[in-house]
Amino acid sequence: MTPMSTYLVTGGAGFIGSHLAEELASRGHTVRIADSLATGNRRNIAHIPDAEFRQGDLADLDFARDVVAGCEYVLHQAALPSVARSVVDPVTAHRANVDGTLNVLVASREAGVKRVVFAGSSSVYGDAPVLPKRETMPVNPMSPYALQKAMGEQYLQLFTALYGLSGVSTRYFNVFGPRQDPSSPYSGVISQFATALLQNRPPTIYGDGEQTRDFTYVANVVDGVLRACEMPDANGQVFNVATGGRISLNELFQRMKAIVGASVEPVYTAARLGDVRHSQADIGKAKEVFAYEPRVSLEEGLARTIDWYRAETPAEVG
Ligand code: UD1
Repeated sequence: MTPMSTYLVTGGAGFIGSHLAEELASRGHTVRIADSLATGNRRNIAHIPDAEFRQGDLADLDFARDVVAGCEYVLHQAALPSVARSVVDPVTAHRANVDGTLNVLVASREAGVKRVVFAGSSSVYGDAPVLPKRETMPVNPMSPYALQKAMGEQYLQLFTALYGLSGVSTRYFNVFGPRQDPSSPYSGVISQFATALLQNRPPTIYGDGEQTRDFTYVANVVDGVLRACEMPDANGQVFNVATGGRISLNELFQRMKAIVGASVEPVYTAARLGDVRHSQADIGKAKEVFAYEPRVSLEEGLARTIDWYRAETPAEVG
């Protein structure tokens, strides 16, 4: 059994961060959560009473130093997500995604943290036609968000090479599951489809719906991140954490519609600026280095997720 340790989860009141915090607490570790509550919510962590919560902005170096102090492991999940939002407001996204990350790295180095795991993104691969995406492929950001996530990874690798900070980046591919906030126009597509279908409202599809994604259930990400954190050989590297398949938005919509039993059709509108056409991960490296396996399939993940939204979503309209 692994010894009990102290973990900081930045963005721990957000979607992915709250699942990590929950799993760490259930394994008996000491968990501290830092979150600005810009997109996170106290509700997401209300069921983890043992976790210590600190509210603040990691773009403030003093706050970053304060929360990192005393922690052995840092799971840096805090970010302002959404490709589309970063296209509209690159400056706010940069502050959260780049300034916040640099401060976490500076503070982690000063505090002698044993390992930092950075939440990277599949968006860094851009639109190069080769599928599936391997970690050896060059990064090719097509949006401010993608560039900021690429910078975070590269800053972490630089801190490893320059200062000996132990670090790993996990590139997430379109994560979905319970607690993903559906309420913003920038919310993940599965959260938006689920709530629209449950309320019998037509969801929006940007473009022709033939773009594809490697949708990943959040429990698989939690498993991948914790394995990456614990594996010494992963130091200084980046890993895809995904399911390894891909599905078009049109097909996704049909499957979700069937699970919900809804009768609405989507409304098609113009494709989003900065949107990648196809995305699919090669997960061979994570399998090889830390025995990662996506245990929850897309089908099972969609069923669990729709069950959760069904319990959360107000009654049907229309
Ligand atoms: C991107 C990244 C992902 C990252 C996420 C963070 C890629 C391939 N993926 O996701 O790794 O975690 O940003 O925000 O770059 N769409 C609709 N209707 C909607 C909402 C979205 O059709 O109501 C479409 C989008 O145009 C896109 C797809 O669905 O083609 C997925 O969109 P979204 O869920 O926002 O995620 P990505 O931008 O793909």
